[in-house]
Amino acid sequence: MLKLVDIWFRYSDSNRYLFQRLNIEFREKELTLITGPNGSGKSTLLMIAAGLLEPERGEVLFREKPLKKQLPEARRFIGILFQDPEYMLFNSTVYDEIAYVPRQLYEEKEVDKLVRDTIKILGLSEDMLKRSVYQLSYGEKKIVALGSILSYKPLILLLDEPLESLSKYYRDKILDIIERLLEENKTIIIATHDPDLFIHRFNPKIFRLEIADT
Ligand SMILES: Nc1ncnc2c1ncn2[C@@H]1O[C@H](COP(=O)(O)OP(=O)(O)OP(=O)(O)O)[C@@H](O)[C@H]1O
Ligand SMILES: [Mg+2]
Repeated sequence: MLKLVDIWFRYSDSNRYLFQRLNIEFREKELTLITGPNGSGKSTLLMIAAGLLEPERGEVLFREKPLKKQLPEARRFIGILFQDPEYMLFNSTVYDEIAYVPRQLYEEKEVDKLVRDTIKILGLSEDMLKRSVYQLSYGEKKIVALGSILSYKPLILLLDEPLESLSKYYRDKILDIIERLLEENKTIIIATHDPDLFIHRFNPKIFRLEIADT
């Protein structure tokens, strides 16, 4: 489904390669955990996989073909949840946030249906849709940010620390959503420093990053 082939990557202001010859394949309908210490490049890997950062060498393949050549069209098949939900929320209401990408793809009637489907999956009330995103609690922001990618029904979900800083209530809620997405045969890639939270419930593949010393 999504394949990283011989990836070399360093940030432009750094001499240190974060990845050298990184190879990883994310198969259809599978859950993969990307784990490793702080700074090992989990978030960076997800951004490369989503086509948001370009590797210095190597290639990201989506359905066997270079992702780069399939952009921007392929964006609708890939959803990325950033580690910090603040980076994802920029519309004034919850409704507009969840409707944002669908509005670029569909008519308003279809958009409305997708928004209502999404809040059902998230377990949010209709009242929530009118709320301003700025007033939401951190847990609510994380759920709404997730909603903003679920609404357009991507095939691949890249979730960066989806359980981080959440109370047990929201953690369980997000784990239930992940379970449901797996039942819907989505391909899910999760960056996490706490793989145990997922391992005891699912049967994921695990890919561990180390801190590179060059
Ligand atoms: N935009 C950037 N420019 C330069 N360096 C960056 C940038 N973003 C991240 N880095 C550096 O790249 C390295 C990897 O960062 P990244 O955020 O991918 O790690 P991570 O494994 O997700 O860490 P964490 O567990 O803290 O979320 C770190 O040393 C970080 O400081
Ligand atoms: Mg990170």
